[in-house]
Amino acid sequence: MDLQLLGKTAVVNGASQGIGFAIARRLAAEGTEVLISARKEDALVSAAKQISEETGRKVRTVVGDIRMLDGCNNILAAVEEMGGVDILVNNDGAPPLGPALDFDDLRWSRAFEQNLMSVVRMSRGVVPGMVARGGGSIVNITALCTIQPMPNFGLSVSTWAGVIGLAKTLSLELGPKNIRVNTLCPGLVETPRANLTDGPVSSGPGNDELQAALKAIPLGRKGDPAEIAAVATFLASPLASYVTGTTLAVDGGVSKNLL
Ligand SMILES: NC(=O)c1ccc[n+]([C@@H]2O[C@H](COP(=O)([O-])OP(=O)(O)OC[C@H]3O[C@@H](n4cnc5c(N)ncnc54)[C@H](OP(=O)(O)O)[C@@H]3O)[C@@H](O)[C@H]2O)c1
Repeated sequence: MDLQLLGKTAVVNGASQGIGFAIARRLAAEGTEVLISARKEDALVSAAKQISEETGRKVRTVVGDIRMLDGCNNILAAVEEMGGVDILVNNDGAPPLGPALDFDDLRWSRAFEQNLMSVVRMSRGVVPGMVARGGGSIVNITALCTIQPMPNFGLSVSTWAGVIGLAKTLSLELGPKNIRVNTLCPGLVETPRANLTDGPVSSGPGNDELQAALKAIPLGRKGDPAEIAAVATFLASPLASYVTGTTLAVDGGVSKNLL
């Protein structure tokens, strides 16, 4: 299936590994010129090299911490240098896990900056260029816990709920300008972050909870980052030209919602 992405341009944040990397790789494989960002330069550069070698596409990099206005501005300056983008993928790591009321104001502010303000700032930065080129697509990566909250994910749930609200609002405001805005809610995905027993999220669920979470997946396994990337790439592509304002679970069937 031709996703009609040849010659398009995209910026994918949080793309040195995991889901962001898989999305950048798939977009490049479909013919998109990709700008990828993350905080650690070495990993970012080697991710770009891998994608470029695999796809034959030019892959640009820019270092930026999307929790900060400056970090977003760095990324937006690089977007400007490449003449704007057709596609923005908002993705990164996530705030720490733990009981919601255990976090102080500083932690809450950081979560707000990371999960919500980064999406506001990046969207605000790229939309004028999208308008000038006659349209565009914004895809936000959140998590299933945003639509099915669970204990210990309060910082993410609270701030990503704002992202879903923002995406719906932007889909109404930007639809007439042919800019689509959609949000994905992945379930458990096999990335360094999802290795909950020994991964970077040390305060996350232990092995028993991980086994219970796996049992609750109708498809019986974690997702592969490429499976999230396939859906994100479709939503980003012109083939999804009549899809906007949606919030879509990509979770192996865990979500019990009718819609
Ligand atoms: N894996 C899962 O099971 C799963 C499930 C549902 C939702 N999600 C969500 O999907 C997103 C991606 O998850 P993942 O598993 O792919 O994570 P990951 O493997 O930890 O990758 C995160 C990427 O984002 C970058 N990043 C992290 N913090 C950043 C910041 N402040 N500014 C800029 N870049 C930043 C990281 O590079 P640097 O560290 O170099 O910046 C890395 O490239 C997260 O929001 C996660 O919560 C994941």
